[in-house]
Amino acid sequence: MSNIIELNNISKAFDNQKKISVLKNLSFKFKKGKIYSLSGPSGSGKSTLLNLLSLIDRPSSGNIKIDNRNINHNEIEINDKIRSSNIGIVYQEKNLLPDFTAIENVCIASLAANNNHTMAEQESLKIIQKVGLKDRTNHYPSELSGGEMQRIAISRAIVNKPRIILADEPTGSLDHENANQIFNLLFKLKNKDRVIIFATHNRFFANKADYKISLSNGKIKTINGKI
Ligand SMILES: Nc1ncnc2c1ncn2[C@@H]1O[C@H](COP(=O)(O)OP(=O)(O)OP(=O)(O)O)[C@@H](O)[C@H]1O
Ligand SMILES: [Mg+2]
Repeated sequence: MSNIIELNNISKAFDNQKKISVLKNLSFKFKKGKIYSLSGPSGSGKSTLLNLLSLIDRPSSGNIKIDNRNINHNEIEINDKIRSSNIGIVYQEKNLLPDFTAIENVCIASLAANNNHTMAEQESLKIIQKVGLKDRTNHYPSELSGGEMQRIAISRAIVNKPRIILADEPTGSLDHENANQIFNLLFKLKNKDRVIIFATHNRFFANKADYKISLSNGKIKTINGKI
């Protein structure tokens, strides 16, 4: 079974003063071992979709399967556990807790999944070294550059070796060189058991994914596979 996430007839509407239908009856299967880019105009629902995939938000209707298991959105504790152990998330910015150092930010994610302090510290240090920031280990976020913050954010997202990596415009606030570095890092994380899904406005990076998903009017408009 190569599908890792399955969306079946997913709709999402926000019902504040005025009802906004963002996603309309989406069905899609994400395969493991692949990288997907998510593009589409501002407001097309990229972040909304990523928030559903990360189980942070729930669909208005339809269902999500992870590893062929139906997600019950009322089982908050179970879903929190699924998220902390299986899903790594990177946002555009403000990923890190400001009052914690780089290594502490990474450790917290590890502790949430395993509660083993020695392992958390060792694993976090190993990953921070891998992203080339050993000499920034004890820096606070305010003492890091934007690119460095995103490298720590990626470290935090991968410390539990998640099988699902979600990134919402991870380079949205970086220059091209730093963005390149972040995407190189992200693409290196590809492996046969893992799916990586990222939203971006940058066509250059979107084109590097194995599959390109484009959202428009609540629907998936085009899916171009490289393979
Ligand atoms: N919590 C919310 N309450 C009401 N409306 C919301 C909420 N979150 C998102 N929306 C609306 O849903 C639509 C989709 O938003 P979303 O953030 O998913 O777009 P996006 O594709 O990520 O855009 P961008 O490229 O600007 O990040 C927008 O019209 C937005 O105003
Ligand atoms: Mg967005």
